[in-house]
Amino acid sequence: MPEKARVAVLISGRGSNMAALVYAAKRPDCPFEIALVASNDPDAAGLELARAEGIATFAHSHKGMKRAEFDALIDAEIRKAGADYVALAGYMRLLSPEFVGRWKGRMLNIHPSLLPKYKGLHTHERALEAGDSHGGCSVHIVTAELDDGPVLGQTQVAILPGDTADSLAARVLIAEHQLYSRTLADYVTRTAVKEAASG
Ligand code: GRF
Repeated sequence: MPEKARVAVLISGRGSNMAALVYAAKRPDCPFEIALVASNDPDAAGLELARAEGIATFAHSHKGMKRAEFDALIDAEIRKAGADYVALAGYMRLLSPEFVGRWKGRMLNIHPSLLPKYKGLHTHERALEAGDSHGGCSVHIVTAELDDGPVLGQTQVAILPGDTADSLAARVLIAEHQLYSRTLADYVTRTAVKEAASG
């Protein structure tokens, strides 16, 4: 079994997608392991879960810091943890171009819409208002533009009559938890094969 890719997960709150990645990584055949869970909010609920799972955590409030300065701090922690990839999972921060540039092709995000539809916030409200038949979620490579960058995988989720933003969000979240680990696993495997081929 080749060495597992080391992934740092960045969260700002609940961390249910992070938890899904942590549990997926427990399978012996999972090609990635979680090297670090970091947050810009020391009170993020997900940190406690990560600690309980024996995963290294780092938390520091971004308040009062310049964006580039805060990102450099997080970047240093990610590198210290020996991570090869960064997975954003409900990380509610706009990223500095320097940080995005340093992790080019190695940073993924999950977004609760069928991108390119509904970038940014309130995705479920917007899907309902538009009368869409489906909502869903996307995993994409992070580039300098918010919720942009090549889409690696998507899951469609049917909208039910009577759905509210909350009920739709809860169903989409189930799909998110499955999509993220599968897409990340495929991505790190493909990247390792490409790197091996190019020597
Ligand atoms: C998820 O819906 C994710 O797609 C979005 O923010 C939410 C985070 O939830 N980016 P959680 O912290 O992973 O539970």
